[in-house]
Amino acid sequence: MTPLSLIERYRSVLPVDDATPVISLGEGSTPLLHAPRLSERHGVDLWLKWEGANPTGSYKDRGMTVAVSKAVEQGAEAIVCASTGNTAASAAAYGARAGLPVLVLVPEGAVAGAKLAQVRMLGARVLEASGTFDQTLTAVRSLAERGSHVLVNSLNPHRVAGQKTAVLEVVEELGGPPDALLLPYGGGGNTTAYATALGELGVSTTLVSVEAANRPQTLASAIRIADPVHASRVAETGARVLSASDDEIVDAWRELAEGEGVFCEPSSAAGFVAVRRGAVFGRVVVTLTGHGLKDVASADRFAPPVQRVAPDPDAIAEAAR
Ligand code: F0G
Repeated sequence: MTPLSLIERYRSVLPVDDATPVISLGEGSTPLLHAPRLSERHGVDLWLKWEGANPTGSYKDRGMTVAVSKAVEQGAEAIVCASTGNTAASAAAYGARAGLPVLVLVPEGAVAGAKLAQVRMLGARVLEASGTFDQTLTAVRSLAERGSHVLVNSLNPHRVAGQKTAVLEVVEELGGPPDALLLPYGGGGNTTAYATALGELGVSTTLVSVEAANRPQTLASAIRIADPVHASRVAETGARVLSASDDEIVDAWRELAEGEGVFCEPSSAAGFVAVRRGAVFGRVVVTLTGHGLKDVASADRFAPPVQRVAPDPDAIAEAAR
């Protein structure tokens, strides 16, 4: 059975009509997991919105299905993005699904290897440029202004429209708004989307957006963004912005994996840092934005080592004690 597409589920609140082709890979409708063990430990009622369950392994698919569908409707001949990896993977997948050429610009040496492999496998043209993510974004914005490519970064308003649906799912599933909603803060597109959704619903949920304290150098490569393009919009939303050190992000990331069995990528754990600090109360939803398999090198660096053992039961039983 074909899964329900995000556009079909939320057609009435998205900028689409009957003339819009639906370019879908079965995105959205992701699990909202109760986290009993971590709730008890941190004194909150904790829920995890597991966005790594999207088709390309990150929440980007929610916005990309809308952006690419609209691009096709408008007769686009190609799409382009700059990316730390996940936007690129999503653009590559939805572009392939639509039969559109996809051009991706990444900062050299700054994208997790599995993400790059994913983008290449999906047939996108990948160019890497020396410099930061911010520089690559500036370059592709200028290129898109020439009219040859539609920009599918979160400056494209259709991306933000699609990403609002994560909040709608949470509120529907809980039967009401949570007390707090926590997410990572990179460029701020997702924070803008969440704030817009909360505003449209007219609810008073506290939005907490957690950035890397060392933005230009954080190990959480997905949010290694020195100069967030949506900073002024994020400030207008009234979201609380917290800065997390890399040590805090790594500790939060490991606790989610070991404590509840949810393996996200490091950046995705940033929201959970606010729970560990005791900064929120009541019913709390942490959005885990991307899958752990996206950044295997970081997992390999921080996970406990594999132990060597002889292939016999006594040695195994001894080693496993
Ligand atoms: N989490 C993940 C897994 C991401 O990939 C990103 C951004 C964010 C959080 C931050 O979201 O930018 O809306 O504040 N990734 C972009 C990319 C930059 O190119 O994939 P934001």
